[in-house]
Order: sequence, then structure tokens, then C-alpha cells
Amino acid sequence: MKTNRDFFFFVSTLLIFISACSNGKTNNTDKMKKVLTEEEKYRPNFHFTPQKNWMNDPNGMFFLNEVFHLYFQYHPDSNVWGPMHWGHATSEDLINWTEHPIALYPDKLGTIFSGSAVVDFENTSGLGTLENPPIIAIYTNHDTEEEKKGGALFQTQSIAYSLDKGYSWDKYENNPVIENPGIRDFRDPKVFWMESQQKWIMTLAAGQETQFYASFDLKKWSYLSNFGKGFGNHDGVWECPDLFPLKVNGSDTIKWVLLVSINPGGPNGGSATQYFIGDFDGTRFTIDTKFKTELETNHSFWIDFGKDNYAGVTFSNFETDKKSALLLGWMSNWEYAKKVPTFNWRSSMTLPRILELNETESSYRLQSKLSVNWDLFSSKKILTKERSIEEGITIVAANAINLSSARAKVKLKNLEPTTYTFVLSNHSGDSLLFGYNHKERQFFIDRSKSGKVSFSDDFSKNQSLAPRFYDKKELEVEFVLDKTSVEVFFDDGETVMTEIFFPDQPFQTLGLLPKTSSKTIFSAELFELEPKKNIFKAIENED
Ligand code: FRU
Repeated sequence: MKTNRDFFFFVSTLLIFISACSNGKTNNTDKMKKVLTEEEKYRPNFHFTPQKNWMNDPNGMFFLNEVFHLYFQYHPDSNVWGPMHWGHATSEDLINWTEHPIALYPDKLGTIFSGSAVVDFENTSGLGTLENPPIIAIYTNHDTEEEKKGGALFQTQSIAYSLDKGYSWDKYENNPVIENPGIRDFRDPKVFWMESQQKWIMTLAAGQETQFYASFDLKKWSYLSNFGKGFGNHDGVWECPDLFPLKVNGSDTIKWVLLVSINPGGPNGGSATQYFIGDFDGTRFTIDTKFKTELETNHSFWIDFGKDNYAGVTFSNFETDKKSALLLGWMSNWEYAKKVPTFNWRSSMTLPRILELNETESSYRLQSKLSVNWDLFSSKKILTKERSIEEGITIVAANAINLSSARAKVKLKNLEPTTYTFVLSNHSGDSLLFGYNHKERQFFIDRSKSGKVSFSDDFSKNQSLAPRFYDKKELEVEFVLDKTSVEVFFDDGETVMTEIFFPDQPFQTLGLLPKTSSKTIFSAELFELEPKKNIFKAIENED
């Protein structure tokens, strides 16, 4: 039982601490034990984390033969960013992961930065056969030596191929496939097959723009166009672009979505991912006038307003009947990722999300829906019938369910001009607050008292805020808690906020407090999530 395990870690940490104090000194073994127990105390139950060391962006994600492949920016020798490799993990359900040996190592062209992978079914690259189509990874080589010399040519694009469905890789002998044209930040190729044009299209980060390239064989690329000047936020470098078509809900219209991660420049500081809706004709991305008009009136379009969802891109070769896209992001922020209080491993991915597109009166909006098969968890369910909030309510009394592994769906009716705050708390006095200010039409997360926060000023100096797009008197909120993260989906995922936190002990109670007494009606469904299988299988590349 997770509850017992957490309790065990808490008690053992306490015992180690007490015994160290009673000796009058802390020896190294005791210190080591303490650090190890702390480690597991913070490791999520059902989000992907590397077994050891540093991870950032998801890379090369594809779906084939019922298996999801996730590669990731990985530094195998340290818990902070360094010479990048591609780590590798697979899953059949996006919850249970098996970590595999490192997929791509640095080479003479440089270390391996972010990129994508495609299944080359028609063997257009000639690097496999029609019977055994190759998987092609397209990534950035980052030449650190060249960078040190001060020039701008240190990032180039290269490819590698796998003939065993993504488990082992060979680099293409004529790399790089795209030379650097003199742009310092020139990276993160994301490739897809454009059926109507019978060609591969690449989106690439180039300074504060996205560039588009085309190819028939994934080896020779030609420049098409660029997008970015005058649109969206430009407070930082544009990274990890992704372009894909989505069907507008309730119609047959197809619109193209361009995701662009930016660092810094996020709505609440640091890194975040913005999006643009428009059309793509195989050469040029043009923003839809309706979307453009709303952008001009200063609306921000972010896939997540929380501080911890970055560099998210979609899976290749995965499509549902709605033409929706499956997104996974890195659940951290460059402002403090290297300082978070875990040491054996650093950072996790978000839960997978299906992206859908809605047309509103004024614009188009992405909607994120959790794409998790909840049957993978045995869950204890609590139902709360409709009741008035008055001065505030306790939703989960001390440990009634395990709040380190839980999901809640809450409905509020008859909102009043006050602030509704969900409060998670524990016996150490830590609290995590999130909710909705109906007067200002603003969602928020406040982790300033959530436990360990002093490792970085940027972690909690401000509340994170997100605008609500509607003036409705009802609100639906769904959130998932996994030890050190909360992912909140307001208004059926039209506004999302994802943040991490590090409480001194697990949160035990959950309440809802209105700022002023309120007649708002509350009802909820809560689930304690107990993963049915082992979440992580043993790593196979132990050194
Ligand atoms: C985004 C990013 C990418 C780059 C990678 C390096 O987080 O900066 O642009 O390829 O991380 O690890």
C-alpha cells in the first residue's frame, strides 16, 4: 500500500534523524540513508521519472504495435543538465513504464539535443526495407567545442535509424542533414508526413521563429518558410515547435495547430508553451484571422498556465478518430529544474493529454483532456452529494483517502463574487492552495507554503494565475495529485495548470474555503488511485 510505504518512509526518516541526534553527530551512512529515503518520498507514483539522474524534454515519441516509445533529454552521469543523450522508455498504457538502455550517445558532431522520430512506412529514406520499415530519429547535434569558440554554427540537424522498432540505433553516415545557416539557436526538429503533399515536413526552432522544411527522403531537406515575427510572446528563445492538424469539435473543419515552447516568457515566469491556430498549405503557416484578432487584443494562448509543463510535443503515428493529438510535457521549469530537492533522479513527465480544438465566438481554443485509462488503478471512491459551502467544507478528513495518489472531479454551482480555495494540508503545517477567484475571473495556484520552497526564489515568489475565458456561474474542476504534483483541469480542460511541490510529509486533508461565506453549491467525486501493476520495471542499463 502506498499509504503504508509513505508512512514507512516518513517514520524511517524520522528514526534515522532521531538516532543521528542521539549520537550527538551524524555519520555518513546515516546521512546517505536519509537522502535515499527523501528521494523516494518525492518520486511520483504514476508519472514517468528516470531511475537515476537528470531528465528534461520528451523526445522522439512514437506509437507502434501497441507500444508507446518515449525518448528524453538525459544526462546519465549527473543530476544536473550536461552532455545530452537520449534516454528511452516504453509503455503500453502510458502509466507503467520500462526504462531501456540509452538510445543515442553524443558523437563527433556533438551532444544529442531534442528532436522527434517517425515510422518511415514506405522506406522513403532507403535506410530500411518495405518489409521492415525503419524508424527515423531526427535530432539536433550540439557541438559544445564549437560553441566555446564563440561562433553561431554549433547546432545542426542529424538523423539516426532503427531497424528493430526503436530499441537500438545507428547514426546516418552523412550527418548532418541540415547545416547551420548562421543561427545560434537552431534546433529541436519535429517531423511529420503530410499525406496531401506526399512529403515530410519539419518544424524547427530558429532564434525567435519557427522554420519549416520539406523532404521526400528525410535526408535532403529544403527550406520552405518561417513564422513568428509579430506573433505571440518573444521574451525568450522559441524552442520545441510542433505542427499538426486538428478537427474542430462539432464540425468537419480542419485547422492547424502550432505549438511553440518559450524560455523565458511563460505567463507565470520561466518556461511555458504557447500555441497558434491557422492553416498550413505544405509551404507556409498562416494564422487564422479570428485567432489573430484575439491575439492582438492581448489574449494569451498557453497550453498550460502552471509553471511546470514545458517542451511538450505530440506522439508520431498516433491518431484518434477525432484527429486529436496526444501530448506529453516535461513537468518542470528551467527557472529551478536543476535545484529541486531530489538528488538521485531529477524531474518527471506530465500525464499524457489528448488535445482537442474548440471554436468559440471570438477564437479557437485548445482543450486538454487527460488520456489515462483509470481502470489501471484500483480506486476507492468517495461521493459528496450537493451541499452549500457556507464558511467552508472539509472534502477529505485526515487520511480518509490517500491524497498522494488521488483524482477529484468537483462541481460548483451558483458562484458568487468571492475566491474559492482548495486547501491541501498536512501535520507539518505545509499547505498547497489552488482555486478560482470569481470576482477577477482568475484561476490560481499558490505553493508558497507547500513545504520545501527555499531552493529557488523563482519557485514560489508569486502565485501562478490564469484567466477564465467565460463568465459562467458554474465551474467544473478536475485534478490529479501524485505526491509532488497537481494537474488541474478547469472548464473541461480549456484552462490547465500543472505544478510541482515538495511537502515535508504527505498531504492529509483537503478542504474548500470561500473567502466570504457563500451559498455556492458543491458536489464532488474523489478517487484514491492505487496503481494495479508495477509502475517502473527494472532498468536494463545498470552500469
Ligand atoms: C528545451 C531545450 C531544447 C534543447 C534541449 C536541450 O528545454 O532547451 O531547446 O534541445 O532543451 O537539453
